[in-house]
Amino acid sequence: MRVAMIGTGYVGLVSGACFSEFGHDVICVDKDEAKINGLHDGKMPIYEPGLDNLVAKNVQAKRLTFTTDLKSAVKDVDAVFIAVGTPSRRGDGHADLSYVYAAAEEIAAAMDGYTVIVTKSTVPVGTGREVERIIREARPDAEFDVVSNPEFLREGSAIEDFMRPDRVVIGTRSPRAQEVMRDLYRPLYLIEKPIVFTSRQSSELIKYAANTFLATKITFINEIADLCEKVDADVHDVARGIGLDGRIGRKFLHAGPGYGGSWFPKDRRALVSTARESGSPLQIVETVVRLNEERKQRMAERIVEAAGGSVDGKTIAVLGLTFKPNTDDMRESPSLDIVPALQKAGATVRAFDPEGMGEAKPLLAGVEWCDDAYDTMPDADVLVIITEWNQFRALDLDRVKSLMKAPVMVDLRNIYEPQSMEEDGFQYFSIGRPIAASK
Ligand SMILES: NC(=O)c1ccc[n+]([C@@H]2O[C@H](COP(=O)([O-])OP(=O)(O)OC[C@H]3O[C@@H](n4cnc5c(N)ncnc54)[C@H](O)[C@@H]3O)[C@@H](O)[C@H]2O)c1
Repeated sequence: MRVAMIGTGYVGLVSGACFSEFGHDVICVDKDEAKINGLHDGKMPIYEPGLDNLVAKNVQAKRLTFTTDLKSAVKDVDAVFIAVGTPSRRGDGHADLSYVYAAAEEIAAAMDGYTVIVTKSTVPVGTGREVERIIREARPDAEFDVVSNPEFLREGSAIEDFMRPDRVVIGTRSPRAQEVMRDLYRPLYLIEKPIVFTSRQSSELIKYAANTFLATKITFINEIADLCEKVDADVHDVARGIGLDGRIGRKFLHAGPGYGGSWFPKDRRALVSTARESGSPLQIVETVVRLNEERKQRMAERIVEAAGGSVDGKTIAVLGLTFKPNTDDMRESPSLDIVPALQKAGATVRAFDPEGMGEAKPLLAGVEWCDDAYDTMPDADVLVIITEWNQFRALDLDRVKSLMKAPVMVDLRNIYEPQSMEEDGFQYFSIGRPIAASK
């Protein structure tokens, strides 16, 4: 099949590369000339494990190409995916759909013959209907269907998530469009991955409801972690104890500094405003949004406490800045709240992130950027782990102690054990695991 992918960002590039790996002919389009030129030279615009090899392999097989010319790309394809950004609109938190609608207009002007237009961007309920209206208005005689096919991939494991998803959701009642979508995802049928066919509105809502549920789970365990600290309980044990219940499940029960990322916070805000506008506000979700914002802001206070009540004039070593490991994505990362708050309180921040420093530098002023984890530590008063990159899991603790002014660690991802850290001579602070609970 022939596919055009409009928007060659995280989702567009990964989906395009994976569809070409399925055997389809894919042309990825982006307005950003530098991005497309880079891809022509084999340069990935994002860091995602395995993506460079997958792209190179399919480019070489001539199944994957890149262009800035939407018009020629959309002509004669079976399906056009819209995978452009849907950022939060300033002021009201609603998803900014201007890129989606602009892409719809451009597609309308260029498409030729029956075309399935697939919205892969995360969009509020009703967007598919509006995309259809835009195209119908521009091309009253054209043969087309507009389908919703939300993407659930996670940055850091995006390729595996696309190739072996828990499910694929396809929103359309048109049998002709269903057939095209079935053909596109045929390799997943063969490995018996569930494909959920539903209405366009249900499909659009499934995406928001799914990741809102996950955000709620994280926020729930974060609150339980705070309680654990007060009552000398261990949030790891509590999470395991509840997570083994099949009705609850063990995933997304890791306490931490609050969720971040390109889509978790913005999708929550978009759902909240859709729900309000529809006259059916989602009170649990509104609370989750508020608690998560407050939590990220509170994390700096923990570090100040660990430093003995003040960080004024002190040096804080920070490991990890991205919102999670295996990505260079800094969008809404807790580090964006924590680092400026520490600086405002008078601290000097020395930081290292394995992949995120290029993205972080324009966002975090006044930081002393370091070459590796140990480079952050000389004369540091406190060591803070914000992101749980694998390379921070097995630090040489003797070396850490010898470099730092005082052996104080604030581990916001719970990657070390409280009791053994204490035995190793550290003053160790984590989330929801008081030392007493580990004895
Ligand atoms: N990143 C994720 O993990 C993830 C996961 C699931 C869903 N999503 C959703 O997928 C969508 C895309 O997210 P992303 O992270 O890939 O965004 P991104 O910002 O990385 O990429 C979007 C790209 O679209 C391009 N673009 C915009 N308008 C265009 C047009 N008219 N023609 C050609 N190119 C155009 C931009 O130049 C940019 O390169 C969003 O709705 C997002 O919420 C993201």
